[in-house]
Amino acid sequence: MAIIPQHTTKTIVAMKKSGEKITVLTAYDYLFGKLLDEAGIDIILVGDSLGNVVQGKSTTLSVTLDEIIYHTKLVRRAVKRALVVADMPFLSYQISEEDAIRNCGRVMKETGAEAIKLEGGEAVAETIHRLTSVGIPVMGHLGLTPQSVHQFGGYQLRGKEKREAQQMKRDAKLLEQSGCFAIVLEKIPSSLASAITKSVSIPTIGIGAGKQCDGQVLVTHDMLGLFEEFTPKFVRKYLNLSQDIRSAFQHYRDDVQKGKFPNEKESFS
Ligand code: KIV
Repeated sequence: MAIIPQHTTKTIVAMKKSGEKITVLTAYDYLFGKLLDEAGIDIILVGDSLGNVVQGKSTTLSVTLDEIIYHTKLVRRAVKRALVVADMPFLSYQISEEDAIRNCGRVMKETGAEAIKLEGGEAVAETIHRLTSVGIPVMGHLGLTPQSVHQFGGYQLRGKEKREAQQMKRDAKLLEQSGCFAIVLEKIPSSLASAITKSVSIPTIGIGAGKQCDGQVLVTHDMLGLFEEFTPKFVRKYLNLSQDIRSAFQHYRDDVQKGKFPNEKESFS
């Protein structure tokens, strides 16, 4: 079997040049980190989506720095090949550049993640410049940035109006100039994502942004059919795991109630 080298931010950027699509999924614990890594996923994102799919909250806003650090450590322990990216939670990088360096630096030091992700364009470009100049690799995030859900007034498609689309194109260039190694584009028209992808030399990673992006990301719990409360239109469900898991639990309950579990082979003499 061919030995696949460990990914770095450089190997990820090189994938855009060679035209190889970049695969990204989220993980929040050791087991999923291991399964994703063994499946050959290129980037494992410890997303603040853990607020939704692990903690059951309606937004990501309350996720804390300590929670991201805890979950990233679990994932990092399992991963041998993929690039591990930790998502910076709301208000951990917006207050001041100094605060951002302290918090992102803490994530890098304590978790072993190879990069961090943060949301926003022009407003965070200077901060990204400072972070990358002190050696902290940054993945940007434009479009429907969930930490701004209340500012947007919901989770609607972004960049439909010309002015917002133009600003997003400028933001993408700014993120590139500030030193980002990749940019997530979330829930924007495919034509806008395609234009941004062509205009920058760093990879774009789409989620609800069409197939012209250099890579794709989904929340793992969505694509496995584990999270049933809401499924966005851009999610493809590869399994319906919740149904299977529920039925395994029911099966176990029946077996115990009917005295069918444990049997002799599962007992000691
Ligand atoms: O938090 C997250 O999982 C994300 C991805 C959906 C890009 O930001």
